[in-house]
Amino acid sequence: MLIRKRRGWEIPESAATSEAVFRDRRRLIQALAAGPVLASGLLGGGMRAMAADEADPSARLYPFKRNPKYTLDRPITDAKYVEYYNNFYEFGTDKDIADAAQALPIRPWTIKIDGMVEKPFTIGIDDLMKKMPLEERLYRHRCVEAWSFAVPWSGFPMAALMALAKPLSAAKYVKMETFMDPKVAPGQNQFFYPWPYVEGLTIAEANNELTFLVTGMYGKPEPKQDGAPLRLAVPWKYGFKSIKSIVRFEFTDKRPVSYWEALQSDEYGFWANVNPAVPHPRWSQASEREIGTDKRVPTLIYNGYGEYVAQLYAGMKGDQLFR
Ligand code: MTE
Repeated sequence: MLIRKRRGWEIPESAATSEAVFRDRRRLIQALAAGPVLASGLLGGGMRAMAADEADPSARLYPFKRNPKYTLDRPITDAKYVEYYNNFYEFGTDKDIADAAQALPIRPWTIKIDGMVEKPFTIGIDDLMKKMPLEERLYRHRCVEAWSFAVPWSGFPMAALMALAKPLSAAKYVKMETFMDPKVAPGQNQFFYPWPYVEGLTIAEANNELTFLVTGMYGKPEPKQDGAPLRLAVPWKYGFKSIKSIVRFEFTDKRPVSYWEALQSDEYGFWANVNPAVPHPRWSQASEREIGTDKRVPTLIYNGYGEYVAQLYAGMKGDQLFR
């Protein structure tokens, strides 16, 4: 494929704008656009609130009870950084997509479960949440661009969805798909990207206890820019595996080709397990920058989650496991 992706991942993390600088610039632009009175308020330290969708009937369910099993080795990242420094290519290729993402309607929101299952079905997000064991978990998130955060996700283990979906024994993979609506997501009009965004896991990965389907964060429903109303969290893998705004789980015996793999298979593959010893072809993965503090910390194999997941890859070798 001759297509070269643009911006974002073209540049190494060291050359990217720190989100603190970027946020200040964004606030300044907003403040100037709003006029002098508002401007002085914003520049005086006011942070624009990103309110949860008022029409979101799940809002009253939060906060979920925290599962104490999953602990962090670092402080939780301040929510404002996680909410305003995003990758969501449907809404643009830079980090500043939070406003654009507000155009995404998240109710009604139906999720299709099909392919190699006992009986395909479609279910609304609120009905699905009623059937799932809801909890909060503290997880780290490591982007392939070498930045990271620590976040309280709300949601449910993917294993519970697997039990509901009842895949056939011949199914080897689950393929997940993001919504497709170029009218609300301008990025989807860019024909050279392989829309819709797709990701995949093996059945064993999907059933791993760490694999989590996220409906919210920081004790509230998920902001749209972070992947409302349903996204994936697989914290031992690079962040691009954490597909946002999911509308379909399709069970299959063929390994899915994910969005980034379709775009640039020499750089992004199916497994994408974090490994500081395997550099990205264009930059090192040895360390990461914590957004919010800008602290550089060493990256850990499987992002520190090896005790839960290393056995999934026993006997498998090669760098392709780590990109
Ligand atoms: N899902 C969709 N549908 N579209 C995207 O562009 N970006 C991925 C992942 N999921 C992406 C996506 C990448 S590269 C990362 S690092 C995380 O979402 C970013 O999640 P955040 O914006 O909540 O930090």
